[in-house]
Amino acid sequence: MSFPNRRLRRLRKTPALRRLVAETRLSVDDLVAPLFVREGIDSPVPIPSLSGVQQHTRESLVKEVKELHSLGVPGIILFGIPEQKDSHGSQAWNPDGIVQLALQDCRDAIGEEMVLIADLCIDEYTDHGHCGIVREDGSVDNDETLEIYGNIAQAQAQAGADIVAPSGMMDGQVRAIRNALDKGNHQEVSILAYSAKYASGLYGPFRDAVDVTIVDGGDRKTYQQDWRNGREALAEIRADEEEGADMIMIKPATPYLDVLSEARKITDLPIAAYHVSGEYAMIKAAASQNLIDGDVVAVEQLTAIKRAGADFILTYLTREIAESL
Ligand code: PBG
Repeated sequence: MSFPNRRLRRLRKTPALRRLVAETRLSVDDLVAPLFVREGIDSPVPIPSLSGVQQHTRESLVKEVKELHSLGVPGIILFGIPEQKDSHGSQAWNPDGIVQLALQDCRDAIGEEMVLIADLCIDEYTDHGHCGIVREDGSVDNDETLEIYGNIAQAQAQAGADIVAPSGMMDGQVRAIRNALDKGNHQEVSILAYSAKYASGLYGPFRDAVDVTIVDGGDRKTYQQDWRNGREALAEIRADEEEGADMIMIKPATPYLDVLSEARKITDLPIAAYHVSGEYAMIKAAASQNLIDGDVVAVEQLTAIKRAGADFILTYLTREIAESL
């Protein structure tokens, strides 16, 4: 019998044929490792909800960065856990704050051979756990927060970040940060904007990892996006591009592949996708119960994220995928 889609079957016949015609290729070049560094600990602390991921000391962080570099991983994104939290998150821009010190350590150890990205937000540094300054009535003050983000950008750039990545979803944050960087003579530092960041249920393990509890059982629905909406993600991306973003991000990744593929059509900027803590934890949990083959599902999900249009992926799977490729 002869029918047109015989061809598709013919091209699936052997691994070599499948490799030849593959449209999407996952490589170590696509991966960025999220890393945590915690102030005031003597040895790394495992994060129970993120198996295989740790809160690092400054020393163990540098070791990890060097190992990732030797595996060919092009970049890391750094999150800090300070000893002291306050209402304004002031440790986030203290030149001696944990992330600033860790950025300098990494820069000294690795030179320019790895891209150092600093997550730019205050939720890890505030006692209320919100990404912005909180008013008396409990609401988040967008515009007052922008000034603080500018201070953080300057401190992170001064400490050696190649890229700052604002994740707080305040309106106007990209412009405020660009202005602060330029004013501080850091014209060469890029901005990776978390443009389309949803108020997701998938950030739970991350909040454990950085010791964040939002005050009064609150959530981030007044500043992060509603998962019922796709078009507003495109509006956020356009706004960030206009404000001066160098790259944009979609987050989380796998539930938002439609947003990713629409984003690919409307911007020429590099697009990052964040395969977040909950996405990672679900794979690990299901695999540990032998419900799925975790290694297969990991590659399947990351490849799907690329197929949908991402140029690179922030993922806790980075190290194991780099080791297996
Ligand atoms: C905010 C921030 C969050 C994540 C990255 N940056 C948490 C949040 O918005 O509540 C989540 C990342 C993950 O779940 O892996 N600073």
